[in-house]
Amino acid sequence: MTGGVTHEPLLLDAEGLAADRELEARFAESAHRILADLVGGGAALGWVEPPSPDEVAGLLRHVVSAVRAGDGALRVAYLDRRLVGFGYWLRYGRPTHRPHADLEKIAVAASAQRRGIGRSLTTALIDDARAAGIEVLTLDARGDNTHALALYRSLGFVEYGRLPDFVAVGERRYDKVFYMVDFRRQG
Ligand SMILES: CC(C)(COP(=O)(O)OP(=O)(O)OC[C@H]1O[C@@H](n2cnc3c(N)ncnc32)[C@H](O)[C@@H]1OP(=O)(O)O)[C@@H](O)C(=O)NCCC(=O)NCCS
Repeated sequence: MTGGVTHEPLLLDAEGLAADRELEARFAESAHRILADLVGGGAALGWVEPPSPDEVAGLLRHVVSAVRAGDGALRVAYLDRRLVGFGYWLRYGRPTHRPHADLEKIAVAASAQRRGIGRSLTTALIDDARAAGIEVLTLDARGDNTHALALYRSLGFVEYGRLPDFVAVGERRYDKVFYMVDFRRQG
């Protein structure tokens, strides 16, 4: 363990996380804190109410087992050994969609945003998808999530569809926007 104060984010994949027993042991709890805080602050992460610790732990177990099976990628970002962000993609389960994957979540703690961590995580996950031979990487986002959408466009994602007024948060309705990057069309 290195220990010192770095101020530079440390980006790990699932294997790197598993190699650091201390970080790995706290991962689910730290990820829950980030997700619950962001959702409590209104972030568009698929929940209306902050998820419970058990729900997040179950989700992460599912992601880690998919990564082990070669069906996903997980990236985590630490600042001074504090989890500040993470993201993952999972290969589609439907047999006819197996060449493709969905970037399901990218989350950066509010206190660590605007420092390039979201961009580093997304770039690494795109690289992981390309390296895994994924053909099309998709994602969807709430239409008012303009910061996230700008980030994805800047990394090569293009919009391929939109469901108007589909995402329900109480009485409010937002577009569901679908983005993709097609690696087969890239050099
Ligand atoms: C979206 C999110 C992951 C971005 O993470 P971040 O670490 O703050 O992003 P970065 O600092 O790497 O910025 C990347 C790009 O995002 C956009 N962006 C992020 N925050 C922005 C802001 N407050 N204002 C304008 N643009 C913003 C910009 O395009 C930025 O690129 P630039 O720095 O070249 O202008 C983060 O805001 C987050 O976790 N939001 C809540 C959860 C969420 O909405 N996740 C995405 C679900 S689809």
